Formats: sequence, C-alpha cells, structure tokens
Amino acid sequence: MKQIFVTGGAGFIGSAFIRLVLDETSDTQIINYDALTYAGNLENLEGVDSKRHTFIKGDICDKDSVLNSIPDNCDAIFNFAAESHVDRSIESANEFVNTNVLGTQILLDAAREKNVRRFVQISTDEVMGSLPESDEAFFTEDSPLEPNSPYAASKAAAEHFVRAARETFGLETIITRCGNNYGSRQFPEKLIPLMVSNAMNDEPLPVYGDGKNVRDWVYVDDHCRGIWLSFEKGKSGEAYNIGARNELQNIEVVKSILDILGKPHSLIKYVKDRLGHDRRYAIDSTKVEKELDWKPKVSWEEGLQATINWYQENVDWVDHIRNGEYKEYYKKHYGMEVGAK
Ligand code: NAD
Ligand code: DAU
Repeated sequence: MKQIFVTGGAGFIGSAFIRLVLDETSDTQIINYDALTYAGNLENLEGVDSKRHTFIKGDICDKDSVLNSIPDNCDAIFNFAAESHVDRSIESANEFVNTNVLGTQILLDAAREKNVRRFVQISTDEVMGSLPESDEAFFTEDSPLEPNSPYAASKAAAEHFVRAARETFGLETIITRCGNNYGSRQFPEKLIPLMVSNAMNDEPLPVYGDGKNVRDWVYVDDHCRGIWLSFEKGKSGEAYNIGARNELQNIEVVKSILDILGKPHSLIKYVKDRLGHDRRYAIDSTKVEKELDWKPKVSWEEGLQATINWYQENVDWVDHIRNGEYKEYYKKHYGMEVGAK
C-alpha cells in the first residue's frame, strides 16, 4: 500500500483529488489532514471509502500535530491546504501568510523529519502575475514569478520555500500550477458557484469591472489527474503548469450559466472592480502534455453542464453554506444581501 498525506482534503480540489485517487488506484491509503476552516466541509467527503481514507482535523501550522499525523513510510505529501480566495486576501492578508507560507514551511520540515519520499506543492498560475490581453502570450514553466495579489504573493513565497527545501536539504519536490478550476463542491465565493447559486435564487450576479478579465478554466478532475501524474511521473525539482487551453472572459462564463439555467441576462449587475484585478491568465501546457502525457478529458460544455447539474441536485449543500458566515461576508464584500430566503 502507498501511504499519502493530503492536506486541505475537505476543500474543493483536495476532496476531488481524494475521490479520484481512491477510485483510480487500489493500493493507496490516504491520511486527510484539514483544519476545517470556513472553506473545509466534511460533506465533501461523504461516501468515500473509509477503509482507505482517514480524516484528521488539524492545522498545518501546528508542528506537533503535523508530525504526529504523518504516517511512517509516507510516500508523499500533497499540500492543498491554503487560504484560497483573492478577495479575502485583499481584505486581510495575515491568514494567507500563516497558512500558505508558514504552514508550507512547517510541512516541509516535517517531510524531512519523517523521511517522506516526495513533496507535492499545489500552486497556482496566479504566481506568474497577469498577461496582456493579446492572445500571443502564455504562462510557461519559465515565466518569472510576479504575483500581484496578497494571495498570489503567499503562494509564490511558498514555492520559494519548496525550492529551498530541495536545494538545501535534497527533499524531492514537485510544484503544480493550475488555472481556474470548476466543478462540484466549490465554495460559492468563487465565480462559477457564486453565479450559479445566485442565478438559481434569482439574485443579482455581481460582475467586477467590465467583465472582460480572462481566466483559463480547467475541470477539477482533470487538474487532479495532472497532480497525480506529476507525482508518479514528474521529475523532482520541476514545476508543471496544468491548463486546458480554455480561455474565457468572465462575462462569457456568466452568460453561459444564465443560458443553461434559462435565466435572464438582466440578472447581471456590474459592480466595482477588484483592486489590482489581474487581466488575463493563460497556460501553455505543452510540458504536461509531452512529459506526463496529460490532457484534459472533460470539455468546457460538458464540465459546465455537469457542474450546474450538481448544484441543482445539491441545494442543501449550498444552503448550509449560504446561511452561515457567508451571509455576513457577502454583505460586507458586495453591500448586498444573499440567501435571504
Ligand atoms: P478551498 O478553499 O476550497 O479549500 C482549502 C482547504 O484547506 C479547506 O478544506 C480548508 O479547511 C483547508 N485549510 C485551510 N487552512 C488550513 C490550515 N491552516 N491547516 C489545514 N487545513 C487548512 O481551496 P481549493 O480551491 O480547493 O484550493 C486547494 C489548493 O489548490 C490551494 O492550495 C489553492 O491555492 C490551489 N489552487 C486552487 C485553484 C482554484 O481554482 N480553486 C487553482 C489552482 C490552484
Ligand atoms: O487561477 C487560479 C486561481 O483561480 C486560484 O489560485 C485561486 O485559488 C482561485 O480562487 C481562482 O482565482 P480567481 O481570482 O481567478 O477566481 P475567482 O473565482 O475569485 O474570480 C474569477 C474571475 O471572476 C476574476 O476575474 C474575478 C471575477 N469575479 C469574481 C467574483 C467572486 C467577478 O467578476 N465577480 C465575483 O463576484
């Protein structure tokens, strides 16, 4: 049996990764270590094979707890745990520095102490900053790290500590950098689930600025397969950019959601732009395609429809979130009520 330690496995991508690994391998035992912040949700793990999955509630900044939780003979740490929302990092960056930077360093130290074979850092295309609007430029693995938001800065800093652990101590490391993920169980502070849940409730859809910022969308399961392949086939010390060559303007995404749900475009409400809003992300994924034999399996049309279906079929999941701390966050951030019904 392979033993792997997954942090942040109760979140959107971490839980999808756990389901994928349990479904597609028969010899992997998973310890899922998650602090259950506002974004962590045990409902995301309902139905997973409990014989091969153990959940431990814990903070990656708590060194003793981390050391006690990493199993002996651990094959890999997959570090998904993070504060992940750009808007929240603009409001306050402290938690981003704690979890994303300090937490990563604590995991790196623990990986060395426990002789973990490989450390896989789940990073993001946002560490490379923003691209011009022309479609000539793409992020490659050689693009400089030029983070613009506090979130991106914390993820870039984490990458530097991962590099330092390899160069200084010889730890085997892999870094993956993906574009914007979408799929089931994404917390509705992010563009797609926010727009889907607001549209389902006939509430305004708040589009920042002119709506023409471009993101490169990847279906979450495709991202997770890329992470697994980079662990199995990737070279230590390398970074792998994962992108589905699926650039879309935000306004195109929002209109597609309304069209699929049969809701009017009049629900769109242009609001004040995000501070320092990155204009365009776009990934050149030649390296993962050639070296890891990765390519996306799910088309945008299929993936968006499946995502919307999931939110329609899981209204309780959405309601649990939209009734808690989320309501206060939403009112403070957007100056509008949500989920009031
Ligand atoms: P998420 O916010 O949905 O989940 C984060 C998880 O980490 C939650 O379960 C939370 O409880 C846990 N967590 C937070 N702080 C913790 C701590 N101190 N100790 C232990 N657990 C903690 O995030 P996500 O969208 O699933 O993103 C997962 C990872 O992927 C992040 O590292 C993010 O930077 C990266 N990423 C995300 C995207 C995207 O589009 N969402 C794209 C590329 C990379
Ligand atoms: O690119 C990868 C990154 O994608 C990940 O590293 C981050 O964790 C993830 O949150 C995501 O970052 P973005 O800032 O791109 O995602 P978000 O869903 O917040 O916003 C997507 C775009 O939609 C962005 O241009 C801002 C815009 N937007 C977002 C929200 C929440 C709106 O217009 N209105 C909104 O209400």
